Amino acid sequence: MDVEFSILGRKYALYQKEYEEAALRALRSGWYILGKELEAFEESFAEYMCTANCVGVNSGTDALILAFRALGIGAGDEVIVPAGTYIASVIGVTENGATPVFVDSDEYLLIDAGKIEEKITDKTKAILAVHLYGQACQMDKIMEIANRYGLYVVEDCAQCHDATFQGQKAGTFGDIGCFSFYPTKPLGALGDAGALITDNENLAEKLKMLRNYGSRVKYHNEISGVNSRLDEIQAALLLVGLKHLPEENKMRIELAKKYLSGIKNEAVKLPIIRAGSTHVFHLFPVLVEDRECFQAYLAENGIKTQVHYPIPPYVAGCYSEWGYQWEDYPSASYIAKHEVSLPIYAGMPDEEVKYVIEVVNMFVQ
Ligand SMILES: Cc1ncc(COP(=O)(O)O)c(C=O)c1O
Repeated sequence: MDVEFSILGRKYALYQKEYEEAALRALRSGWYILGKELEAFEESFAEYMCTANCVGVNSGTDALILAFRALGIGAGDEVIVPAGTYIASVIGVTENGATPVFVDSDEYLLIDAGKIEEKITDKTKAILAVHLYGQACQMDKIMEIANRYGLYVVEDCAQCHDATFQGQKAGTFGDIGCFSFYPTKPLGALGDAGALITDNENLAEKLKMLRNYGSRVKYHNEISGVNSRLDEIQAALLLVGLKHLPEENKMRIELAKKYLSGIKNEAVKLPIIRAGSTHVFHLFPVLVEDRECFQAYLAENGIKTQVHYPIPPYVAGCYSEWGYQWEDYPSASYIAKHEVSLPIYAGMPDEEVKYVIEVVNMFVQ
């Protein structure tokens, strides 16, 4: 049996009529940038996230870059970031000229909140919590540290649309929550898109200026900004996606439960969920000593897998001047060398899930 890692066109095929109606509505409106569709999406997403403001931008990476810029973080400032994350999280810091200070991963594959405090210096201005794979970080501890030291908290929610920690939605704990709507994400556009959420009206106002050349009024450029706007067609498509987000998440969570109860192989370490957290399983990451052998074995049996992520940002080529070594962050390094993401997507047929479980259970290292 062939099992795809995910099927990108599936969501479009499933909700085709709604997507096409939405796209046509935007196309026929004669207005394509900063219009009614974006306003409607920003309002709906803010309400959905139980927050006061949403500001749509071009991508999740732009959301992160503009979040730190809006907070006034730049050269000479330090930001605490996870050692194990996707490079875009760190780009949000370095594009502003600030310095990322890495903290190793915990057993949930997220920033180890217990190791943050030892990295704080008089230059530290913020903590970046990345809710990777679909699970929220330990936000009570992170917020307690941030409040005690007077630090900003930015949340990278690119993979966790709808995940909660102690009943509160990830993205609403800190000063700003940053979302990616890249097509594969739990809430995906059919192109690039992103957004920021915040309860702070001043920050929201500043973000709206930053995404639009630093202006509130055309040609009155009050601050130094960029062009990063979520266009009308993507906003209209996202309104369709948002309507279906809860059912899509539910389907993936059900699949993950099947993996969690069905996979019984000591060679395959399953993801764990922190007490009080909900995990939306954007990805289903397992850890295997001999990753190459495991991936090859699954591929021989028709099962496609991916790795998230093989090179941690602290050793990425673009940051080589810092001179970090893999072993500087043993846990993040271990995850980068041994993580394998099993196929998981809303609508994955039951027989495929059963087949993956069967094949994984027969794996011998
Ligand atoms: C954790 C994380 N942060 C940020 C991003 C960047 O989002 P985008 O691709 O929309 O720029 C991604 C995208 O893959 C991501 O996974």
